[in-house]
Amino acid sequence: DWTMGAYREEAIAKIREQVGDKKVICGLSGGVDSSVAAVLIHEAIGDQLTCVFVDHGLLRQNEADEVVTMFRDHYNIPLIHADESRLFLSNLEGVSDPETKRKIIGKLFIDVFQKYANEIDGAEFLAQGTLYPDVIESVSFSGGPSVTIKSHHNVGGLPEKMGLKLVEPLRELFKDEVRALGRELGLPDSFIGRHPFPGPGLAIRCPGEITGEKLEILRKADAVYIDQIRKHGLYDEIWQAFVAILPVRTVGVMGDGRTYDYACALRAVTSVDGMTADYYPFTHEFLGETATRIINEVQGINRCTYDITSKPPGTIEWE
Ligand code: XMP
Repeated sequence: DWTMGAYREEAIAKIREQVGDKKVICGLSGGVDSSVAAVLIHEAIGDQLTCVFVDHGLLRQNEADEVVTMFRDHYNIPLIHADESRLFLSNLEGVSDPETKRKIIGKLFIDVFQKYANEIDGAEFLAQGTLYPDVIESVSFSGGPSVTIKSHHNVGGLPEKMGLKLVEPLRELFKDEVRALGRELGLPDSFIGRHPFPGPGLAIRCPGEITGEKLEILRKADAVYIDQIRKHGLYDEIWQAFVAILPVRTVGVMGDGRTYDYACALRAVTSVDGMTADYYPFTHEFLGETATRIINEVQGINRCTYDITSKPPGTIEWE
């Protein structure tokens, strides 16, 4: 794409001019925006960039490994893997209110990020994958309720607090342009096309109390579900798909015995921007096959439901 080729060169020149020979810290979430920003900035200033990946223990199966492998090993970008899952999970113990969960995660996220960033001597800049719609949203919603999209990756106020200046090379781009730029930079299609994933991660797909056991079950079920969707060639037609583990156990039969395990809900929606959404019309065959696979392959789940709520009145996530 020649337009993105030109944009890339221009953006690189601008980053070099802004940053000079100073150091930059970039918070990497594993999402498309921060990843594209990191790769672009690395291309501009090389090892003057250090990425900090805060692993809150609420990621999907293999996700942390994939992010670390891709950035550290494949792109050779200096990366700090802040594995703080124990800290997050212990602070979330016994908490079931959705807003409280978000607040705890958001606050810890900033604390942890700051702690690791402080270890990078002489950093003067903080890089963020802010997009044009984020710029508009933060203007129109400033001072509004805390529950906005990206509420926890949007480290509002942090740059000033840390005495850092911002580098935001994607500020003029829309999501589809960021994807095009990512392709231009050689990020794999499978990565660019990934469904959005919320900052608080699996915490908001585990209604009620979060436990390590539930998270493990949820990760396995989610992996089977996404595998089914990919196998049937449906991944790119869907805006977001995931499993939520429900805070209820139900009775089932397995062989000669009874089971008493968790129920889960499958969610899949189509959407343009996440503001409104329709549930995805899977065939009954697909749903039946997927439920059978999840119940057979995931110990701890014995019942599957499919969520057919659109947004509004529902939200995409369960919390
Ligand atoms: P809802 O559930 O509000 O989600 O319909 C709309 C989109 O936003 C994502 N989402 C979040 N992203 N922090 C985030 O970074 C959050 O607290 C959060 N809540 C929802 C959700 O995954 C969907 O793409």
